[in-house]
Amino acid sequence: MPFGKNLGFALFALASSLVSTEAVTYTLSQDLSGDKFFDGFKFNESAIDFNNFGNVHFLSQSAAQAANLSYVDSNGRVILRVDNTTNGAGDTTFGRNTVYLESTQLMNIGSLMIFDANHIPFGCSVWPSLFTQGQVWPQQGEIDVIEQVNLATDNRYSLHVGVDNCNQPTSVASNQTGTISTAEGDISNCTVTPTTGQNTVGCVTTETKSNSFGSSFSSQGGGVYAMLWDTDGIAMWYFARGSVPSDIGTSNSPDPTTWGEASAWYPASGCNPSTAFGPQIITLYTDICGAFAGEDSVFSQTCSSVAPNCTSLVADPTNYDDAYWEINYLRVYTNGQSNSSSTSSTSASGTSSGSGSSSTGSTSSGSSNSALAFAVSRIWEYLLVPASVSFLGMLSML
Ligand SMILES: *[C@@H]1O[C@H](CO)[C@@H](O)[C@H](O)[C@H]1NC(C)=O
Ligand SMILES: *[C@@H]1O[C@H](CO)[C@@H](O)[C@H](O)[C@H]1NC(C)=O
Ligand SMILES: *[C@@H]1O[C@H](CO)[C@@H](O)[C@H](O)[C@H]1NC(C)=O
Ligand SMILES: *[C@@H]1O[C@H](CO)[C@@H](O)[C@H](O)[C@H]1NC(C)=O
Ligand SMILES: *[C@@H]1O[C@H](CO)[C@@H](O)[C@H](O)[C@H]1NC(C)=O
Ligand SMILES: *[C@@H]1O[C@H](CO)[C@@H](O)[C@H](O)[C@H]1NC(C)=O
Ligand SMILES: *[C@@H]1O[C@H](CO)[C@@H](O)[C@H](O)[C@H]1NC(C)=O
Repeated sequence: MPFGKNLGFALFALASSLVSTEAVTYTLSQDLSGDKFFDGFKFNESAIDFNNFGNVHFLSQSAAQAANLSYVDSNGRVILRVDNTTNGAGDTTFGRNTVYLESTQLMNIGSLMIFDANHIPFGCSVWPSLFTQGQVWPQQGEIDVIEQVNLATDNRYSLHVGVDNCNQPTSVASNQTGTISTAEGDISNCTVTPTTGQNTVGCVTTETKSNSFGSSFSSQGGGVYAMLWDTDGIAMWYFARGSVPSDIGTSNSPDPTTWGEASAWYPASGCNPSTAFGPQIITLYTDICGAFAGEDSVFSQTCSSVAPNCTSLVADPTNYDDAYWEINYLRVYTNGQSNSSSTSSTSASGTSSGSGSSSTGSTSSGSSNSALAFAVSRIWEYLLVPASVSFLGMLSML
């Protein structure tokens, strides 16, 4: 990709594209860390991974705590694990216990999310993600901040939306440091048609800074991901531990205009950030195999020397010693620039009801037919080619 512009111009470009004319101030609206981290999330309990057909079971908060899969460690860091103690040998439908967290509060346009972690899950068959999603998918959009699989080393950013004409212009190459991949077709197009499985990978930008994912992320001390969603567009940054801007983690009003070019930049000129996205649920979890990590063509890219296929790894608990998040904090800041039409949604969509059926459940809480339609639609999100294997996996789990 072209790196033709000098830094001064790049900084100027960033400043003029992210900020209109006056300085924008971000104030802290949610500070989730330590024991308070769990106040900001509900555990979406589900015996089956309806959306992506991974070999996982999502536990309730009490069950996850009892199984030592979610806790605050002695250093005050939040740990979210995949079970690495149970041997599933002999059980052909075996799935690993883990957790699926969804924020209790919705995030609105005009928000800056900052996530500081020391360790992100990795390993063959492991698929971690930190993303935000509307309450109706894909109509209210999805913003993928951290998402990669298996032994990949570079993080991927993406958007998925339901509205037409949402794309990442190729001209953005000079305004972001990440790479617009072309390996998977027209991925500058963020619009997904879930019923037909068209354009399912979204508009992916790949991180080019080193140590953004995998073992090297944690071995050099982890780092910070940031996502800014405002009326100018959506920007995402990655900073390795030694390169975190000084106002991150220390200032109560961090200033993204001082951080340099974003890794990924989705300007409003290509995708209207006000209409393509509704209020967002921050979502954090780890999948195993399923429609992305388990897809044969994806799995073989980094793990063909480890196993013939993804699901053959699931039964052995020793494959999951690195399948955990170690989180310093997740903070959300707001610039007060929210949609006038959606101010009523700044508060939570109800506290966790015990059944875990609020928020995203609204999409699939109708008849079982609509739930299945939703499930079948989501499987396509990560598929590169139609894969009967994934459907077989789903059927065997049902
Ligand atoms: C990139 O930055 C330049 C300089 O500020 C600006 O004119 C252009 O619109 C930006 N392009 C995109 C796609 O954001
Ligand atoms: C939970 O697991 C971690 C990592 O293996 C361990 O350090 C910790 O002692 C365990 N805690 C409990 C209560 O078992
Ligand atoms: C983007 O992809 C969707 C789904 O395949 C398709 O309907 C739409 O026409 C595409 N948009 C453009 C501009 O190509
Ligand atoms: C902003 O307003 C538009 C139009 O009313 C709506 O479709 C969208 O969901 C809103 N976005 C947010 C983040 O509230
Ligand atoms: C995966 O590999 C194992 C071990 O070779 C094999 O037994 C199993 O049938 C394979 N599964 C699929 C779905 O190909
Ligand atoms: C699970 O993984 C942790 C490291 O994440 C390790 O300390 C622990 O010993 C593992 N548990 C077992 C039973 O191997
Ligand atoms: C979250 O919970 C709802 C209601 O139980 C369920 O329909 C939905 O599929 C769950 N989401 C995931 C990703 O498991």
